[in-house]
This record gives sequence, C-alpha cells and structure tokens, in this order.
Amino acid sequence: MGINFRNRDIITIDDFSRQELEYLIQKAQEMKKLEKSGQRYQLNKTLEGKKLASLFYENSTRTRTSFETAMHELGGTTFGFAGPEGTSLMKKENILATVMMYWANHADAAVMRHSKDGSVQWAADVLGIPVINGGDGKNEHPTQALLDLVTIDELVPGIDGLNIGFGGDLAHGRTIRSNALALSKFNNITIHWAAADELAMPEDLIDTLKKERGVKVKRYDSVEDVFRNSNIYYMTRPQKERIKGLNEAQINDILEKYKIDMHKILSNPNIKILHPMPVDSSTAEIDITVFFSGNQYFIAQAENGVFLRKALLYEILNETDHILFNSSIDEKVAAANDKDYITKSDDPNKKSDINEKPYVGKIDYGVVIDHLEDGITAEIEAKLQFSKRGYRVTSVLHEPSTKTGKLKDFLKIKDKLLTPREIKEIAMISPNATFNIIKDRDVVEKFKYNLCKNENCITRVVNEDVPPKFDKIGKDLRCHYCRKPYEKLCQIIQNLKNS
Ligand code: CP
Repeated sequence: MGINFRNRDIITIDDFSRQELEYLIQKAQEMKKLEKSGQRYQLNKTLEGKKLASLFYENSTRTRTSFETAMHELGGTTFGFAGPEGTSLMKKENILATVMMYWANHADAAVMRHSKDGSVQWAADVLGIPVINGGDGKNEHPTQALLDLVTIDELVPGIDGLNIGFGGDLAHGRTIRSNALALSKFNNITIHWAAADELAMPEDLIDTLKKERGVKVKRYDSVEDVFRNSNIYYMTRPQKERIKGLNEAQINDILEKYKIDMHKILSNPNIKILHPMPVDSSTAEIDITVFFSGNQYFIAQAENGVFLRKALLYEILNETDHILFNSSIDEKVAAANDKDYITKSDDPNKKSDINEKPYVGKIDYGVVIDHLEDGITAEIEAKLQFSKRGYRVTSVLHEPSTKTGKLKDFLKIKDKLLTPREIKEIAMISPNATFNIIKDRDVVEKFKYNLCKNENCITRVVNEDVPPKFDKIGKDLRCHYCRKPYEKLCQIIQNLKNS
C-alpha cells in the first residue's frame, strides 16, 4: 500500500493523504476489536524498551492519559511532565533546551502540548526523534481529528457525503481546524455551523475549505437549523483561556443561544452529538441531560482516542531503532530562512546612501533603523532600555519621508550590532522597521524582519528565540510553525526593492 509512518512527526492533519487517514482509521478499529474481545495486551511486546516523552505544558486529561495508556499497553514506557510545576520551566527554561533533555534521557518519541501555535513544529525541528502534536495553541490537534474520524466512520461509514454541524467556540478551538481539514480529504462534505460572531469559524479556514478543498460551508442563525441539516453535531467548549477581551460571564452570555439541550435536539431527534471534551461544567455548553441521552457519543469518542493513539504509536515506533542523541542543533533550525532577510542591492553607488542622508550622519559601524513608525522610539527605548545598557543611540524623530512625506522616526546605534532577539523586539513594536547594518561606513546588509502575523505564534514569544520562517505551501506563503498564511510578504519585498 506504500503507507509508512515509521519515525514520522505528526504536526498537522493536513500532512495526511486520504489513503493514510483511512489506513489509520482501520488500524484504530483493529485495536478496538482487540480490546473488545479481551485481548488488550496482545501487542504488549511491540514497543518493549521504547520510551515516550509526554510533554504537557498545558492541562489535559484525555490526550495525555490515552497516549500513556496506549504506550503501556504496547509494552513501552512514558516519562515527562503534566504542567510546569516541578520542572525547570519554573526557572524559565525555553522549549529548545527542555525538549532536548528528554531526547538526552533516551526518549524514542515525544508528544507535546503547548499554548502557542507552532510550538510543536519548533520542537520537532529541534529534535531528531518523532514528535506528535498533542495540541498547539488554537492551531491544531491532529490526533483528536484522527480519533474524530474513527468515531465519525463508525457512525457514518465511509465519511463521504457527510453533513456535519459545528458549534460552540469555532474561533479559538484547535479541534475544529484539525477536524475540518481532516474531513476536507473526503468527498462531498458539508459543514453547517452556527456561532456568535466573537466565536465564529476563522475566515482563513473557511477560505481554505471552500476555495481549495471543495467543502461546502454554510452558516445558520440557530443550532436547531444546523441540527436539521446534519447527521452529526460537533460541539466545542468556549476556550476561555484563549479568548481575549471577554470575561467568563460575557463568554457565557454570548454562548447561551448556542448551547445544546434536549429541547433543541427535538429539531432532529437522530442527531449524534460529538464533543472533543472537556465540557465546561460552568458554561454547560452541553446540558447534563444530553449526557444521559441516546444522542451522546462523546464518551465513546474519547475512548476511541486510546485505540487511535495505540495504532499511531505502533505505526510510528514498531521495529525502529533508537535514534541516538545528538547534542548539536542544525544551523538551519536556528536561522530564519534567507528569503526573510531582504538584502539590499550590492550596487556600490547605492551602498553609502544611508550615510549620505544628512539626518543620519556618519557612522562607521553599527545599525541604522529606518521606517520606524512616527513617535514610536520612546516605546522602543522603554522596552529595550538601550541607554541604560550603554548603547550609543541617537534618535531622529518626526522626519518626513523623502518619498511619501509621511513622518517617521530613525534610530542610529553606534559601534554595536543588534542581537536577533533585539531585532525581533523592535519589529514587534514597529513592523515596518528597516535595519541597515553598517560596517566600514557601508550598508552591508539591509533587511526588514518579517514576523508571522499570528500574534499567538511561537515565533512571537521573544524568550523562545524561534526565528520566523515561511514555507511555500500551494499558492501561499505560510508560517513554517503555525502555518498561517503570510500573503503580504511579496508586497513587502516589492516595497523594499522600490524604496
Ligand atoms: N480532547 C482533548 O484534547 O481533551 P484533553 O484536553 O483532556 O486532553
């Protein structure tokens, strides 16, 4: 069949072909048959001697325990952490150093959950062992999507032609993104959804589903309308820890109309309710009476997580050799890709332009930061504390641009270059900043620091020092870590070339 998961990273559901999804569904169903026929430990020699690092920066009941159960039932062991307490994360150790320690302690694979989008891709880039995404921020939860498919396939065998309803918090829930992308690999899928504007399905996801994948996506005003058009309803909890600008009472208020109860189920008594769980007992987005009804399939769905994760670990680790620890990290991992630094022309006549500008003045060695937002230098100084740290900085404020006349600020730093972290911090404050590196009175490099536009991306956590990178995926440039589109990059390159 040509399907091979050995030593493979599992970061996004989008990396799977339909054939691979169907293969894993079948393998999970085989694991379920073993369990239900009393043969739970039949494969308990398979991963003997293998170790799974279980790295849960964020809370989890199902994902963490089902990975651990799966590993134990296949004869392997697990070690790691559930929350930072008791680890050196409390001493602000970064992801890079933390995850490396588990490989140094002979992990054969790792499963990781973290609050930042793209964080698990970063761990996978750093580590030489396979890494499984147990949920990264509001980005993805690929093994949840796989177990959802196992459950959906039990309820609607074949999946093609599925009418599925989505509800709850579609904006911040990673399960919705992964589930929708997984379903998009099947034919004739329609997603019906109803949610408050604040919790609506993300536009970029709708665009991908409709324009690239041929999935029909239909929005309704009421849950009852969604029920009437769906075989399965996939409810999700409000991701209160990720919703900015609303308190708990406000979140509960906006969700009220979209909660599931037995009265709403009357609009389609055959509707099958799924939920990745946990259900938030304070919001009660699913009324407790639904738990006791024949419409409730989410507890069986959670058990399918054990079978799916058992199948996945079997496929990734069976008959593999331990990958020996390597303490050196590939330079390519540490560097932003070349295309994200835009080097100015080598034309010697242009090289000294920056020094000839009267408001910049002569500088032998250092950095001139151009195109800063008008009036922003005070904020940069407050954040980076250049003066306090002995940097020789001159600020030039409110200068009209020679091209547009728009006011802008400059910073001139003498006798010192900036660290990648300092450059990132400045770009985060003033995204259009252009950095001119000056050596021997020449501009030897001129670039703009292109940040991922997703504010929850791991590349925007300064302490983690993850360099921005963009990959070409299909027609889009996407962040290498969180895979959010970066459509403006080409325009920025063009603007710089013209400037
Ligand atoms: N579905 C899910 O990810 O549950 P946990 O948060 O309990 O792992």
